[in-house]
Amino acid sequence: SAAPTRAPEAGTGVFSKGRAAISTRTLRTDRWWVPPLLTVLGLAAFIIYATVRAFVRTAYWVSDYHYLTPFYSPCVSTSCVEGSSHFGHWVGNLPMWIPLGFLVLPFLLLFRLTCYYYRKAYYRAVWFSPPACAVAEPHGKYTGETRLPLIIQNVHRYFFYVAVVVSVVNTYDAVMAFHGKDGGFGFGLGNIVLVVNVVLLWAYTISCHSCRHITGGRLKHFSAHPVRYWMWTQVSKLNTRHMQLAWTTLATLAITDFYIMLVASGTISDPRFIG
Ligand code: FES
Repeated sequence: SAAPTRAPEAGTGVFSKGRAAISTRTLRTDRWWVPPLLTVLGLAAFIIYATVRAFVRTAYWVSDYHYLTPFYSPCVSTSCVEGSSHFGHWVGNLPMWIPLGFLVLPFLLLFRLTCYYYRKAYYRAVWFSPPACAVAEPHGKYTGETRLPLIIQNVHRYFFYVAVVVSVVNTYDAVMAFHGKDGGFGFGLGNIVLVVNVVLLWAYTISCHSCRHITGGRLKHFSAHPVRYWMWTQVSKLNTRHMQLAWTTLATLAITDFYIMLVASGTISDPRFIG
């Protein structure tokens, strides 16, 4: 089908002086809009699911096996159901409009929002800047991340540090979940779900571009810093998978939460191997 066309506007965006004078928005004839469309659908599905689950305050803790969904971790309010507050109560009861995971959810959102991969994804799919390679953006001006508000994206590295702390908390939750019905050690399908999720969360976090810079950036001579060079090499390998990990962890987060919801609500029972 024919690509959408529009008249060049003098001096703006891709129609500025010095750019090739092409009047159509794109000469591409393939279905270039499929990846941005899938991105929007995927992100929207996760955001809707996560928002609903973050607010409902039901079925987030399995008291028999100590499974806690990552969406409610750490649960530090006295509104949290008994047993789910691994780190104690830091605040009293919370009104319904504040999610019980309020302590970390905003940081996790900002960590992903400022992530180098997600930026690429939503700049293309949501902001159309540009929607795809060789497809002109509809915006008159392009300032990139050089001024407010997008210059704030530079704080990503600080959210990385918070994300590391949150990963430690999630790891602690996953270890505490090896709990049997009658106390002591227990092991069920939920443990596999929780451990897979936490391992992938670590992989996503460590594959962060900021982490790569923190481990190996600003070094003049790798040969003088063998340990940092080794760490940078490992992080770089994971970093090539950052996009896949970004999507995989959205899926595992939702699956983990959904599984715990099913068990906690009594809809299914957790297959147990021990305890
Ligand atoms: Fe994606 Fe840091 S670049 S999490």
